[in-house]
Amino acid sequence: MTYDGLRTFIAECDRLGEIKRIDGAHWDVEIGALSEVTSELIPEPPALLFDRIADYPAGFRVLSLPVVSRVRTALALRLPTELPRMELVRRASRLLKSQPKIPPQEVETGPVMQNVMRGAEVDLTRFPALKSHRHDGGRYIGTGCTVSVRDMGTGYVNMGTYRLQLHERDLLGLWQSPGQQGRQIAEQYWKEGKACPVALTFGGDPLVMMTSYTKFPWGVSELDVAGGILKTPLSVIRGPLTGLPIPAHAEIAAEGEIPPPSEEARAEGPFGEWPGYYSGGTLGTGENQPVIRIKAVYFRNDPILLNMSPQWPGAPHQGPRISSGNLWDQLESVGVPGIVGVYVHNSFLTVIAIEQKYAGHARQTAMAAMGCSAIARLNRYVVIVDEDIDPSNLQEVVWAMTSRVDPIRDIQFVDDCWSSPLDPRMPPHKKAKGPYTMSRAIYYAVRPWEWRESFPKVIRIDKADREMILEKYGSSLPFPKM
Ligand SMILES: Cc1cc2nc3c(=O)[nH]c(=O)nc-3n(C[C@H](O)[C@H](O)[C@H](O)COP(=O)(O)O)c2cc1C
Repeated sequence: MTYDGLRTFIAECDRLGEIKRIDGAHWDVEIGALSEVTSELIPEPPALLFDRIADYPAGFRVLSLPVVSRVRTALALRLPTELPRMELVRRASRLLKSQPKIPPQEVETGPVMQNVMRGAEVDLTRFPALKSHRHDGGRYIGTGCTVSVRDMGTGYVNMGTYRLQLHERDLLGLWQSPGQQGRQIAEQYWKEGKACPVALTFGGDPLVMMTSYTKFPWGVSELDVAGGILKTPLSVIRGPLTGLPIPAHAEIAAEGEIPPPSEEARAEGPFGEWPGYYSGGTLGTGENQPVIRIKAVYFRNDPILLNMSPQWPGAPHQGPRISSGNLWDQLESVGVPGIVGVYVHNSFLTVIAIEQKYAGHARQTAMAAMGCSAIARLNRYVVIVDEDIDPSNLQEVVWAMTSRVDPIRDIQFVDDCWSSPLDPRMPPHKKAKGPYTMSRAIYYAVRPWEWRESFPKVIRIDKADREMILEKYGSSLPFPKM
C-alpha cells in the first residue's frame, strides 16, 4: 500500500475490523466521554472515527483511541498483529534499540499543503477541538499532536507531545512539564529574549506520534527513529516560515513561535490529566503558562484530528505502552541481565520480571530502572517480580506483591526523585514553590534469593499445560487472545 500517513493506518484498521465510525457526536464532552466509556468497558476496544461532529462540516473528523488495542499498537509499529502483548513490547524494544535510524527526506510539497491559512486567515477554530472532560477549562486542539523545536547550538530538532489548548483563532496554550527536552530548548531562546520557532502537527501517522511521546536521549531525532521503523525515510516539507520539518502526510500542521512567558503567557487548563486528576497547568503551580502564536496553518482535505486526551487510568483497557519497550532496551543497554518482561502500567507504576541470576540482581534491576529516562519522571512504584509473573497482568502482579513481599524488608524508599507539578500527591506548598520532586518505593516481590529453592511451589498449571488446554478447547470456549 502506498504510504499515506494516518490514512494508511485507518485503511489497515478497517481491514482488521479495528475501527468504528460514529456520526453526529458533540465535541463538547460527548466524544471524550464515549472514548472513555469504550476503553473502560470493551476489552481491546475499537478506534472511534467521528464525523459530522456537531457545529462542523462533514469531513472534519476526529480519531479517538488510535492505539488503545494490542492489534493497533502492532499496526502502528509495523509489527505482526498476532503478537501477544508482552512479545509486542519486546519487539518494540528491539525496534527502538537496533533498527538503524533513517533521516527524513525533504520533499517540495505533500498532502498537508492542500489547504493553507496564513497571517490574518489563520483560524484554528475551524477544526473540531475537543473539550474531553466536564471540568476542562477549555478546548484542546492538541493531544495527539507533535511539537518540534530546534536546539540553538547544534541544530538538532526535538519533537515532543505536549497538550495544546485552543485560546484563540491564532493562539494556543502550551503546557510542558519542567525538564522536558522541548522545554529546555524553548528556554534557550527565552534566555536571549527571543521567541522560539515551532512547528506543530495535530494528526498524522500514529508511529510518528509514538516516537514523539517516547523519551529518547538528548540528540536522538524522533523523525529518524520513525524512518528506521518504516524502513524508508519519512517525507517532510521544510516549514516555509521556520525551516522546521513537517511530515508531508500530516493531517493538520502549523508554524509559529513561543514568545518568552515574560512577554506573553496565559492561564492554562484545568485539563483532565494522565494521572487521572485535575492537577497540572495553572491549577498546579498558580503560574500562567507559555503560548504559541500561530502564523500559518496547513491541512489536508477532510482533515482528521487525532484525539489522545487522557482516559481515566483506572479504565482496564489501555493500549500497551511502548515506553515499556523503551525501558526494556535501556535496562539491557546498561547491562542488566535476565529480564523476561517489562510493563509500564500508568504514569506511576512499572513492573519488571526477571530470572534472578545472583544475590542483589533484583536490587540492581530496580536501581537501574529508576534512573532510566523512560520512567525517570513521575514513576512512583517499581515492582520487581519473578519470571513466572506476567508483568502486564495486574492480577498476577498484585498476587506476587501480596504473597512474596515481607513489607518491612522488601519495600525500599528513595526520596527527592524527578517529578512533575501534575503529581496529585504533591502538597500545595511544594507545587507553588518546587522543587518538583517525589519519593518512590520499590517492591521486591520476588522469592528471596537465599531460600528461593525452598520457597513454596505455586499451584498454578504450567505454560505448556495451559497452551495444550487453549489449543484443545479454544474452539469450544471463548478464551480471549492475550
Ligand atoms: C498523548 C500524550 C500527551 C502528552 N502531553 C504532555 C504534556 O501536555 N506536557 C508534557 O510535559 N508531557 C506530555 N506528554 C509526555 C511527553 O510527550 C513525553 O514525556 C516526551 O518524551 C517529551 O519529549 P521531550 O523529552 O523530547 O521533550 C504527553 C504524552 C502523551 C502520550
